[in-house]
Amino acid sequence: MTVPLSKSSPPLMEIHNLTKTFPVAQSLLSRWRGQPQRAVQALTDVELTVRRGETLGIVGESGCGKSTLARTLVRLYDADRGSVRYGDLDVLALRGADLRQYNRRVQMIFQDPYSSLNPRMTVEAVLREALSVHKMRPAGEQPARVRELLKLVGLPPEAAGRLPHEFSGGQRQRIGIARALALEPECLIADELVSALDVSVQAQVVNLLLELQERLDLTVLFVAHDLRLVRHISHRVAVMYLGRVVEVSDTAAIFTTPRHPYTQALLAAAPTLDPSQRTAAPAITGELPSPLNVPSGCAFRTRCPHAFDRCAVERPALLQLKDGPEVACHLYDSAAPLTPAPLRVAT
Ligand SMILES: Nc1ncnc2c1ncn2[C@@H]1O[C@H](COP(=O)(O)OP(=O)(O)OP(=O)(O)O)[C@@H](O)[C@H]1O
Ligand code: SF4
Ligand SMILES: [Mg+2]
Repeated sequence: MTVPLSKSSPPLMEIHNLTKTFPVAQSLLSRWRGQPQRAVQALTDVELTVRRGETLGIVGESGCGKSTLARTLVRLYDADRGSVRYGDLDVLALRGADLRQYNRRVQMIFQDPYSSLNPRMTVEAVLREALSVHKMRPAGEQPARVRELLKLVGLPPEAAGRLPHEFSGGQRQRIGIARALALEPECLIADELVSALDVSVQAQVVNLLLELQERLDLTVLFVAHDLRLVRHISHRVAVMYLGRVVEVSDTAAIFTTPRHPYTQALLAAAPTLDPSQRTAAPAITGELPSPLNVPSGCAFRTRCPHAFDRCAVERPALLQLKDGPEVACHLYDSAAPLTPAPLRVAT
């Protein structure tokens, strides 16, 4: 399990009002009719603080914006608006050498490293290229560093001379991690790192990440579907729904006392969390609304068993509760008509 992280751990990345839309291609007919351009609302005013040295899990249903958030944070996508501060850097304004330097410090690791590994380059050549591009080591020191990196990710020295297709999925994921570590990053953003791997291999790769996180004092954003893995690896968890962060809390609190009705429903619907031990809880009802047409007010109101009038007209802000968690739900702010008893989930 994860090592407890001090609550006073300073922020590494501060995200405010981060918004990203994807315009939908418009037909000639709809343009001719003067119909407005439609857009997928992938992120809406995301508020999130990532603390130095933590592993922050990011969960939510498919299409809720997890990958868009990850990609926007490493500047693969341009945000529509909002701000991302990394130490004293204004990330969204970085250009040229400053952006390259930021991308060295904040590395993204993808689900399928195979697609980003040149099939004709040996592992040694892949790692040496990473070391050369960012001038991490002079040529003479590179072979030793390659061996060091392979050891760090649990691969034998002989792996250096092999081509990517000679490795299993789990081993290729280790090569992807080694390539990221070659740049000595401070922060890793792992998007569905192990989703494509067999369950037994998933655990090995996730445990490797846990070990590296502690050993190298990395900050990790761990985006995943699998709540069991997120629980195992994360210090804190952020829950997203339709492009918004709706709850952020310590991992233990999220899994035992989820506050937001969506978090409660998400956990109630998760088959991996030993349903035999759980108390009765509302499952998610209704269809996920289209991100082209996000409901007014609280985006979860069309599926929420507690929705009331105010939920349709006012978007709930993410507010910190007295005992720590941050929740975006009118039930928890002072103007709310009732305070629901939090769902308790057996651990
Ligand atoms: N490049 C893109 N162009 C257009 N729409 C996009 C693009 N990338 C994502 N979207 C849309 O933005 C929304 C959020 O997608 P995103 O991939 O971030 O979700 P996700 O939470 O990562 O989902 P999953 O769990 O399936 O990986 C979805 O409606 C998706 O269709
Ligand atoms: S704000 Fe209203 S609709 Fe949204 S989660 Fe809370 S109670 Fe439900
Ligand atoms: Mg995704």
